Amino acid sequence: MNEKKFNVLKKNFFYIESYGCQMNISDNEIVISILLNNGFFLTENLKIANIILLNSCSIRSKVELAIKNRLQKLKYLKKEKPILFGILGCLSNSMKKNFLDNNLINFTIGPDSYKKIPSIIRLSMKGEKISHIFSSKKETYNNIKPFRKKNKITAFLSITRGCDNMCTFCIVPFTRGREISRDPYSIIKECKTLYKKGFKEVTLLGQNVDSYVWFGSDELKKRIYKKIYTENKKIIDFSKLLDLLAIEIPFMRIRFSTSNPHDMSNKVIEVISKHSNICKHIHLPVQSGSDKILKLMNRKYTRKQYLSLIQKIKSIIPECSISHDIMTGFCNEDEKDHQETISLMNEVKYNYGYMFSYSPRPGTYSYNKLKDNVPEFIKKKRLQEIIDLQRNHSIFQMKKYIGKIQEVLIEGESKKNNQYWYGKNTQNIVIVFPKKTYKIGETVFIKIMDYTSATLMGIGIEKK
Ligand code: 5AD
Ligand code: SF4
Repeated sequence: MNEKKFNVLKKNFFYIESYGCQMNISDNEIVISILLNNGFFLTENLKIANIILLNSCSIRSKVELAIKNRLQKLKYLKKEKPILFGILGCLSNSMKKNFLDNNLINFTIGPDSYKKIPSIIRLSMKGEKISHIFSSKKETYNNIKPFRKKNKITAFLSITRGCDNMCTFCIVPFTRGREISRDPYSIIKECKTLYKKGFKEVTLLGQNVDSYVWFGSDELKKRIYKKIYTENKKIIDFSKLLDLLAIEIPFMRIRFSTSNPHDMSNKVIEVISKHSNICKHIHLPVQSGSDKILKLMNRKYTRKQYLSLIQKIKSIIPECSISHDIMTGFCNEDEKDHQETISLMNEVKYNYGYMFSYSPRPGTYSYNKLKDNVPEFIKKKRLQEIIDLQRNHSIFQMKKYIGKIQEVLIEGESKKNNQYWYGKNTQNIVIVFPKKTYKIGETVFIKIMDYTSATLMGIGIEKK
């Protein structure tokens, strides 16, 4: 395609696909909002679109491959009409050179440059090939109202961007930059707006929500914080942020993800237990049960410390569900290390988890300095073992719900049966049940009758 033929004056329709984590889904809403406010039109139809955006992720090689395959599949569109392809998100940072050498891609834009998207697209339409990536210490998109689909009940809201933890395997600190916390006033304001618009649940997002910290300003002090924190030292940490949100928006369900075991404080656990509108679920990635491997990963906690944190959570919030991320086959992991992961899983019996085998990411410490010395077939074998074990643990946890009554927020129609709703309980477990006369957005009481490893099934009962 000759980009010069692009008709700059015609209506421009963009199509966007997002890959990877919840943070990317949340970023998608920011990108859509920026483009809609700058004269572009959103379409879900590839045939109509003349701008195709892939919001990418580079955390594991599998995701990266999926995006590249998708691009190959979409290639035919370039033969049919003048069309621009843009790569947004993490992959644009780590792969900018390869992409710019690639004839298919017109521009790449990193996660801190989204405000520049309209001007970059316009330059691209004139035939320029652009890669715009910078890492900002300030950019949090506070002043952008994310685009959210109508009739949705749950929303994501980013409270921090980037990460300072430098786990040796992780590309995030390089693609998303250093950690920045967002002004708590803008977070509370956005949550209130969401509630007014009919949202019933918000998930606060950050790579490491527990390290959220805001040093405040006089202006903030004058607003709501002083009356709640009379000891106000101008610092709002994650526990205070949660506390404020739970008080200010009492009928909104609040979730958060992800917690780093190293940073999770007692105060956070106590705040979760204190407020009924803060959900009783903690996603607490452990990565490995072996101290040797945790050290090589630079995870900054030991197996013992992790397990005592779990104990603390369970003693303060007995009903709290816990999920994990675990990685198999990290550098130097031997069978003994793997067995320590298995024994840790047996000790915790997580409700559910996300499991991966290690994939070295160019630019990370482990890629540069450690040997990826666990053969692929062993990585896969260990991964299958922990997946099977987690399945057993999930079943063990799900069984406990039989006969119990759960408070469920209805989110939508069950994918498998249009006569059923699906929703979640406070522990983030999916529950499906017959629709009766219930409506999306209602909170209903469901008696649990059956289960699989991932879903509970029940029937609605009257409130007592
Ligand atoms: N290889 C495999 N898994 C990874 N994760 C992060 N980086 C890698 C990598 N290089 C996993 C971790 C993290 C989750 C979001 O993705 O388990 O918690
Ligand atoms: Fe990556 Fe570690 Fe930060 Fe999570 S905490 S985003 S794994 S560096």
